Amino acid sequence: MKTNSKNILLTGGTGYIGSHTAVELLNAGYHVTIFDNLSNSKIEVLSRIEIITGAMPEFEQIDLRDEAELSKGFDKYSFDAVIHFAGLKSVGESVTNPLDTYENNLLSTIYLLKVMRKKAVLNLIFSGSATVYAIPETLPIKENNVLGADCPYGRSKLMIEEILTDLSVSDPEWKIQILRYFNPVGAHPTGLIGEDPSGIPSNLFPYLSRVAQGVYKELKIFGSDYKTSDGTCIRDYIHVVDLAKGHLSTLSRLDHSSGMEIFNLGTGHGYSVLEVVKAYEKASGIKIPYIFTERRKGDIPISYADPTKAEHLLGWKAEKTIDDMCKDAWNWQTKNPNGYIKKKKE
Ligand code: WQD
Repeated sequence: MKTNSKNILLTGGTGYIGSHTAVELLNAGYHVTIFDNLSNSKIEVLSRIEIITGAMPEFEQIDLRDEAELSKGFDKYSFDAVIHFAGLKSVGESVTNPLDTYENNLLSTIYLLKVMRKKAVLNLIFSGSATVYAIPETLPIKENNVLGADCPYGRSKLMIEEILTDLSVSDPEWKIQILRYFNPVGAHPTGLIGEDPSGIPSNLFPYLSRVAQGVYKELKIFGSDYKTSDGTCIRDYIHVVDLAKGHLSTLSRLDHSSGMEIFNLGTGHGYSVLEVVKAYEKASGIKIPYIFTERRKGDIPISYADPTKAEHLLGWKAEKTIDDMCKDAWNWQTKNPNGYIKKKKE
């Protein structure tokens, strides 16, 4: 295994995308340290990462809004770069309780940046989101498409991009990479780590997985009258392992880049909800009952990425298919019906 003596901090690293990124970095020989407040993830993830990679990441339970604790964390380790995943990501929650999302996402980021500057750690990869794009006038969506988030969650991501832009302009020493994720889905092929949302999932894949498992009676498809081939919305679903590998490629990019860059991480291909249902039925061998309901507020009809900038400059391209995504999502669901919560011994 190639060894990098580099130590990378993953904030929010016990979360869905963070944990998959930790696996890829450890497999590539990086040292990994995770700061997480465990508000929306489980400590169990660490031992799963160790089983997959043979290496246990360093871990500190730190809330980034506690600047003093965060600063102590930076004194304890020396980081070559930071990948910032930590934040609240529920669109629905952000609408009903915007202050929590703004406070968490913005203050965590601001304190992280202040401590990074104080400790002269100026290499940052930010986990961004395609939700910052306005309803696209042109497709596929390029990095210079019009921006305009329509929910507090998306606006918090946009505000952070503005903060990073101003920081980069104020001090060219910073190297900042913003990665705009499209729709991350699926799980590690071992089925040891995966998506473990709390409560009733609002996203398609985790909900679909629970319908296949029989936890929920049927999938409600939000709208069947969109101007698409089958009337249902189209999205650029990307396998979470491909997304994690995109972070590995971006780390290498940091070594010879300057200033701030923005990349779309998507497959460049869109699938409708009905096409996803069909692929999931094929992967699970289970017929998925569904009904059509009203459109969901805020949904855009079609969204898929133009990933060519990442292909050319990061040397990264998503490889996994929608069938891989469904197979790995189903494998995770069947192996972890209650997510990371250990089943009580009978
Ligand atoms: C996909 C499609 C729904 C659930 C979200 C958020 C945000 C971002 C990416 C981080 C849509 C339809 C869904 C269901 C359905 N993540 N659907 N029935 O809304 O594209 O984006 O994920 O930044 O969390 O923006 O993803 O999975 O919620 O929906 O019909 O029960 O599936 O209408 O067309 P979305 P999604």
